[in-house]
Amino acid sequence: MQATAQAHSNIAFIKYWGNADDALRLPANPSISMNLAGVTTTTTVVWDSALQTDSLSINDAPADEKATQRVAQHLEAIRKRLKLDLKAAVTSGNNFPMGAGIASSASSFAALTVAAVAAAGATLTERELSSIARLGSGSASRSIPAGYVEWCTGMSHDESVAYTIAPADHWSLVDVIGVISTGHKEVGSREGHGTAITSDFQAARVASAPARLAQCKEALFGKDFAKFAAVVEHDSNLMHAVMMTSRPPLFYWQPASLLLMEQVRRWRAEGLNVCYTLDAGPNVHCLTTAEHADEIEARVRALEGVQSVIRAAVGGGAAVVG
Ligand code: PMV
Repeated sequence: MQATAQAHSNIAFIKYWGNADDALRLPANPSISMNLAGVTTTTTVVWDSALQTDSLSINDAPADEKATQRVAQHLEAIRKRLKLDLKAAVTSGNNFPMGAGIASSASSFAALTVAAVAAAGATLTERELSSIARLGSGSASRSIPAGYVEWCTGMSHDESVAYTIAPADHWSLVDVIGVISTGHKEVGSREGHGTAITSDFQAARVASAPARLAQCKEALFGKDFAKFAAVVEHDSNLMHAVMMTSRPPLFYWQPASLLLMEQVRRWRAEGLNVCYTLDAGPNVHCLTTAEHADEIEARVRALEGVQSVIRAAVGGGAAVVG
């Protein structure tokens, strides 16, 4: 009983930060993202009656105890849903650096969910795959559907799902990621969601999130880059303001991140379609359009402090590949 699935990472335009329900991972606010073409996790799941425990290998090496436990916990939720009584061997590989603000958890838990369900011979709807993936990592719910995706908050496990709001070819946005550091981050998003509420700003950020979501959708549907840039940068700044004012505080920006953010604003003032957004890490995602992507990539590469650049167009949904 074996299957292999592939899922893309995603970058949020309107961020998910903080949970309304920690156990079910129901988000405090709705979010919007695009999948990142070519930035993938490929995962094979083998359900095997000969196994005593679940096992995990990542990028050809046995995973540490913490990662293995997290995957075992997710497999347990899938076992319950499918009424399965077998352990699994999971082999996973990313084609991008882990733990540096390019969400490996999103593509990992999306690929794991799709592979584990397919390996068991079950067929679930995209909605259901998205809600199960959410249990592993919130943003993984958004890596199940294709293209531009919205994840609604929902009041229950079944309701909190992500779905496509526009296909990948609706608007040719490109994410040019300026990689500032590939080291593993000290505080992951999992812990961060828990402390978000300790910031005085979180309640205000959450209260105004639906308005930003609506603005972002309008900009996206109307392909209005100026409007899109304004709301995307504002939303990222708000999330980082919450992070920096949480107790204990979380500072993900590095000097080179700020340098790049500053340049992005200048380049936009020059007339280029570009805006920035940062996740729980120092890397700066420079969102641009296909016509300006070469120019933006060259400028990002030339900046001091940028180690490398990853470039991704809008990607498809999670799928079984073997
Ligand atoms: O899915 P998680 O728990 O890794 O949280 C993702 C959090 C951010 O990447 C910072 C924002 C987002 O919406 O992707």
